[in-house]
Amino acid sequence: MVDGGVRIAVIPGDGIGPEVIAEAAKILDVVGGCERHHLPWSADHYVATGETIPAGGYDLLRSFDAILIGALGDPRVPDNRHARDILLGTRFELDLYVNYRPVRLLSDRLCPLKGRGRADVNFVVFRENTEGVYVGVGGRFKPDTEDEVAIQEEVNTYKGVHRIIRYAFEFAHAHGLRRVCMSDKSNAMQQGHAIWQRVFKSVSREYPDIDASHVYIDALAMFLVQNPGQFQVIVTNNLFGDIITDIGGALQGGLGMAASGNIHPGRTSMFEPVHGSAPPLAGKNVANPIGAILSAALMLETLGRRDDAARIEAAVEAAVHAGEVTRDIGGTLGTADAGDAIRRRLR
Ligand code: NAD
Ligand code: IPM
Ligand code: MN
Repeated sequence: MVDGGVRIAVIPGDGIGPEVIAEAAKILDVVGGCERHHLPWSADHYVATGETIPAGGYDLLRSFDAILIGALGDPRVPDNRHARDILLGTRFELDLYVNYRPVRLLSDRLCPLKGRGRADVNFVVFRENTEGVYVGVGGRFKPDTEDEVAIQEEVNTYKGVHRIIRYAFEFAHAHGLRRVCMSDKSNAMQQGHAIWQRVFKSVSREYPDIDASHVYIDALAMFLVQNPGQFQVIVTNNLFGDIITDIGGALQGGLGMAASGNIHPGRTSMFEPVHGSAPPLAGKNVANPIGAILSAALMLETLGRRDDAARIEAAVEAAVHAGEVTRDIGGTLGTADAGDAIRRRLR
């Protein structure tokens, strides 16, 4: 429906997904120039029909300019099958190898770290998004017995590691950032992560103006709490990137604040809040819509509409500064009113 301009597939998903995506959709309608097409793929749809993603679903997604997705995950689907097909499947099938997760604190008041503020929390994470332990290679032998063997392989390819590291340096270069930090666990994972070491060293030589550093992932978790201001660009693998961007969410005031893009430059890309479906919050009108709204802004920015993205970000910041926000970040508003407080500030 509505408006012409770019064509966006919208997948509200499960739990609080539909509630936060409704607010992001209203923002897109005010900004204009987005034709939204809602897709019902979700746990509800799976439970009712047995279908996770329909035949031709990935091709359908490729026919849009971008995808905006809420969250997937529902206690009725304990093996998370539908999320694997819809969310991870789209990352893999559309080859969205860059998981771009900016970590930017909007107000000192929201910082969980004593004595820290906006100057200390402003970095981006590039999470490799198409391989690692997420590929699903492995299996269970003699399942559900005392002899059970469970194998889940981690896949690291030269192509995969090289393109995400290259992307991180190119991003730093394009944005005038001087520091890129790669994080792995090459002290314990001598095979899989040696390739990260080798590629990072060789790519970093091509960027003599950028300070390239390495920290092991356990130390990174510690530094993110102790002194996040030292980071500008972090690049890491799929699983570690997943984990540290929840720390990133906390540094921004809570998971409800964090936005992300699953990007293949020049192709249909997918944007989503970092948080999940938060079943305990669903249907209570308490979910923070900011992560979803900022993800919509990231989407417009990636589609070349920088001014519209900046307008949305400014409106979010203004609402945060006015305290017209949901309870998780110290306000009193419900999800829809918090979305409205942002909409009213769009200039
Ligand atoms: P979660 O992100 O859903 O929620 C963890 C906690 O963070 C919540 O209980 C809540 O306290 C807080 N929170 C998250 N989003 C919030 C918001 N918008 N506003 C206010 N508070 C918010 O993580 P979980 O509980 O580990 O996972 C729940 C389900 O979501 C699982 O099925 C999981 O697999 C799935 N999940 C999906 C995605 C995704 O689709 N991208 C991401 C993460 C988790
Ligand atoms: C995320 C989520 C997903 C992931 C889950 C739902 C599979 O946690 O997008 O951060 O691990 O990638
Ligand atoms: Mn996650």
